[in-house]
Amino acid sequence: MCGIIGITNKKCNVVDKLIIGLQRLEYRGYDSVGIAVINGDSINFKKGAGDLDTVMKRLSFTDLSGSTGIAHTRWATHGGVNDINAHPHMDCTGDIAVVHNGVIRNFASLKLELESKGHKIKSETDTELFAHLLEDEEKKSATFIEALAKALARIDGTYSFAILYKKDPDKIYFAKMRSPLIIGVGENIKAIASDLPALLDMTKTVILLEDGEFGYISPTNFEIYKLLPGGGYKKLNLEQITLKVKTVELTPEAASKGGYQHFMIKEIYEQPNAIRETFEGNIEDPALSKAAEIISSSNRIFLTAAGTSYHASLVFSKILAKRAKLFSYPIISSEMSYVSSTFQKDDLLIAVSQSGETYDTLQAIRDAKKNGVKVIAITNVLGSAIVRESDFSLYTRAGPEIGVAATKTFLSQIMLLEMLSAFISHERKELDKNERNKILDYLRYAPNLIQSSLEASDTLIPALLNLHKKNSSYILGRGLGVAIAMEGALKIKEITYLHAESYPAGESKHGPIALVEKDFPVYIVSTSDAPEIAGNAIEMAARNAKVIVVKPADLKLELKEDRKSIYFADMPPSNSIIELEPFILTPLFQLLSYRLAVERGYNPDKPRNLAKTVTVE
Ligand code: F6R
Repeated sequence: MCGIIGITNKKCNVVDKLIIGLQRLEYRGYDSVGIAVINGDSINFKKGAGDLDTVMKRLSFTDLSGSTGIAHTRWATHGGVNDINAHPHMDCTGDIAVVHNGVIRNFASLKLELESKGHKIKSETDTELFAHLLEDEEKKSATFIEALAKALARIDGTYSFAILYKKDPDKIYFAKMRSPLIIGVGENIKAIASDLPALLDMTKTVILLEDGEFGYISPTNFEIYKLLPGGGYKKLNLEQITLKVKTVELTPEAASKGGYQHFMIKEIYEQPNAIRETFEGNIEDPALSKAAEIISSSNRIFLTAAGTSYHASLVFSKILAKRAKLFSYPIISSEMSYVSSTFQKDDLLIAVSQSGETYDTLQAIRDAKKNGVKVIAITNVLGSAIVRESDFSLYTRAGPEIGVAATKTFLSQIMLLEMLSAFISHERKELDKNERNKILDYLRYAPNLIQSSLEASDTLIPALLNLHKKNSSYILGRGLGVAIAMEGALKIKEITYLHAESYPAGESKHGPIALVEKDFPVYIVSTSDAPEIAGNAIEMAARNAKVIVVKPADLKLELKEDRKSIYFADMPPSNSIIELEPFILTPLFQLLSYRLAVERGYNPDKPRNLAKTVTVE
């Protein structure tokens, strides 16, 4: 959480580029924003509470000018949301400016120590302490790199830092530990940022930094150092650095709204292409059958993830049971530590995470590794922390997702996991090669189905919007439908701020049905594995709920005389191919929540209190 960026070039003012970078990083947090530049012999900065647009209207960032600068967009951890706590933070002399993504754990003791030495701490943040710590170490060190190494050795926690030091006016110092940081290497321009989209306008040549690395960039050069255990450090040589340099295929368009009002709607409509990329990018990759082999030869299979990624894991679990006859244990990653003591040596953990950074998922991986359990990561972000700590990885290849609410990455996770499930079923001899290939052929058709489902949803949604005059709704499913219902309810809650609750439909009569009264909206997500959900639809209709059955058009439900009072949201047919049903039924809920949010006057790209990557406990 929090996005940082730093840019240095020979002559041009970097402020406009920093602003574009901040727009691309806003998905990481938007509580406050700030920019600092070096101009001549001083560091000038502006910062304030609010998202980028709001703060830009209040403080004119474009009045700042300098060819070297850093910027930050915040998701508050230490200290409330206000102007003072916004980054950058300065030391007492004004010579050092720091932006930070992460959490410094030994914050309290450092604060006491620094205050007792006379430092004037203005904010409630952990970040400001690091600026003062650097100020102290700088006085005792021959170079700023040495001061940085000594200051880093004093802190415990997670960080990516970008630092301006007035006496080195064309350099930006940086450091990374468990928060992402990437160097962009242009010819006469260098940059660092939390994520690739912020760099795409400047260069496609990047270095994904590793934990414990720090150094500086200047317009024509950069140096990377490595912290050593015991507080020392060493400089990486040219050969070590060359091995790290990568070229990325993404274009700046991938990180722009492309004419849409919001990233979320662009990403919803982008799904057919994104899911095609997932399929085409993985189908020939031997990693898929290798992963299937590892999974098939493991003892128990645990699946772990948070939020939307957890819902994709639930889909995987259901499909694995049906096709591969393989039982798996899906566990929300923040709950994993309560059961990880039961891990056995030949168990396997499959960790699903779009960002590859989610703290709880990373912790679950660490618990598994501690117990000798192998880990397979499924992520969308190359070289992310989760990938680095796992034994084996598969990539969804959906391209950057900037909207905070996950949409295209959900269906791309499902695509990849269903491909994997087909390979596992074959590996376990539940499907012969032809049967496996037939499923893969169906999956190849999924992008077209998503397209048709989006078109059908667009027609149905105006009528559905009126149902949400009530503050609450249920979304019920059975079997595979539970996972789709859970994802639908999450989308509605997080961007419309209306309450929506998902439940296994069979469980609804054990309590939740008590809330149902006349016109209470109840969505019934009907999938081909659970025709008995018809009974639950009837129970709800009998209590005068507004029942909306969301189903593939060709799926027949036994609804008898209650049919008339039930509304049907018919999506494209699935031919009872269960693998296709998430692609057919999910888009309705994505589009519905988007349209509801816009109608209610909310910005769906920036839901309150949320950030796309949750790197705190
Ligand atoms: C919901 C959403 C979150 C994420 C969750 C996990 O729309 O985006 O619930 O799914 O924070 O994030 P990743 O997949 O990055 O681990």
